[in-house]
Amino acid sequence: MSSAIINGKEIGQEIRKSIAERVQLLKEQGVTPGLAVILVGNNPASQTYVRNKQKSCEAIGIFSELIQLPEDVTEEELLVQIRSLNHRNDIHGILVQLPLPKHIDEDKVIATISPDKDVDGFSPVSVGKMMLGQETYLPCTPFGVMKLLEYSGIDIAGKHAVVVGRSHIVGKPMGQLLLQKDATVTYTHSKTPDLPSITKQADILIAAVGRANFITKEHVKPGAVVIDVGINRDDHNKLTGDVDFKAVDGIASHITPVPGGVGPMTITMLLYNTVQSAENTLV
Ligand code: GUN
Repeated sequence: MSSAIINGKEIGQEIRKSIAERVQLLKEQGVTPGLAVILVGNNPASQTYVRNKQKSCEAIGIFSELIQLPEDVTEEELLVQIRSLNHRNDIHGILVQLPLPKHIDEDKVIATISPDKDVDGFSPVSVGKMMLGQETYLPCTPFGVMKLLEYSGIDIAGKHAVVVGRSHIVGKPMGQLLLQKDATVTYTHSKTPDLPSITKQADILIAAVGRANFITKEHVKPGAVVIDVGINRDDHNKLTGDVDFKAVDGIASHITPVPGGVGPMTITMLLYNTVQSAENTLV
């Protein structure tokens, strides 16, 4: 029997519908949620991501402003832009598309974004609050995965969740969010020996390694829920996840496809955080 597909496109659309309703309520109260997106340089993948974020904003009535800066912009010029956005009343969320050119200190840039407008949830204040279980903006991709599990009726408490990958953006916060829902969490990464012996214990397996088809049959316990966070291009330039879907289909109880799984949820949660920030200005 095939694994049940967790459809991120459908779940994302359902959530976006309720976000759009919140946007309308805000507009009736004279507030249009606003997102500023800063894009440095000409990285084609970043350009595509940013275009998709802007289109998604437009579709539900969020105002978005793109600030494009040249590859050789100085760090100080970028920080000046962020400080100016921090003070603007019409901007509720600020997103600096990563990666940044090598001459710019990414940590310094992220720390300059006002925590009130850090809709990516990457700043040290946001990360600290998340660790403490305090209210804050959660990073969009792991937040989106939590919504996928919730909407698919998957219980987390008491389950063994294994996270493969330890990035600041996905792996680390993913484990924290699962822990807060009472999972037993194991982190694994590129230096973990005998990875399959650990991933095979997972009730919930999160693949966030950034390597095409890395997770295969030998990594998955029958009946596990497999969440594929990877967005890779294979040898034929086809969009491919971190999970070898064909090999794992039928072993997992549930699986997310690529595309159409986690991907649409990341932007959905960015919209969610931006609207939350706009609502916070009313209270
Ligand atoms: N680059 C890749 N993913 C992300 C993301 O979620 N946010 C930002 N700002 N940059 C990214």
